[in-house]
Amino acid sequence: MPTLRSRLRRLPVFAGSLPAFDPTDVPADPFDLFADWLGHAIDAGVAEPHAMTLATADAVGAPSARVVILKDVHDGGWEFATDARSRKARDLALNPAAAASFYWQPQGRQVRLTGIVVDRGALQRDADFLARSPASRAAAFAVRPGEPLASTAELHAAMAAALERVALEPARVLPEWALLALVPLTAEFWQGDPTRAHVRVVYTRDDVAGAWRHELVWP
Ligand SMILES: Cc1cc2nc3c(=O)[nH]c(=O)nc-3n(C[C@H](O)[C@H](O)[C@H](O)COP(=O)(O)O)c2cc1C
Repeated sequence: MPTLRSRLRRLPVFAGSLPAFDPTDVPADPFDLFADWLGHAIDAGVAEPHAMTLATADAVGAPSARVVILKDVHDGGWEFATDARSRKARDLALNPAAAASFYWQPQGRQVRLTGIVVDRGALQRDADFLARSPASRAAAFAVRPGEPLASTAELHAAMAAALERVALEPARVLPEWALLALVPLTAEFWQGDPTRAHVRVVYTRDDVAGAWRHELVWP
């Protein structure tokens, strides 16, 4: 029976034909390169290419990471939606610094962002919530993020009741819903290479209104 360690060591990484990435020919704004790489991943059929790992830290710096779905990138922010009662939202209310990463395996590409999370406000929050499917809205109404749950039957019953209420009140918005955006101060584009000559281009700026600069760094 092979051990987990031996099975892990047999798994390939950076295999196959990965796209070329010329670090001397990148746009001035990392948004443009992100849109290009994400578009490439979508066109190539990458599963859930909009899944982003979001790391936050609480007031004493204890970190926590989880996956959220990227809803849009505009006005300089990478947007995601969540419940204000969740740990991530509570962390961000105390400490708006956050990091996010994307990994598109077939391309061997990783994007890493660090910056500050801002709240997009009630209007955009409402629009995001009301654009969700009835089932998704019902799930949002039904849950109490992170609180102890006696059984999954209780969860299913709460969701069924919430779905009925959504049908009766289709314009109702969960008051705790939040549309947040990570506004980056750094953005790294990492192109894996089968020979391990990985290419890293790091964009930085001093503040959210500042001009971007970029450099090539050692892998
Ligand atoms: C593929 C995927 C997509 C997810 N999308 C979201 C999302 O968009 N918003 C969200 O709040 N949680 C999303 N989750 C659930 C979070 O990863 C997490 O479990 C939940 O938000 C509670 O996290 P927290 O306690 O750290 O705040 C998603 C999970 C997965 C695996």
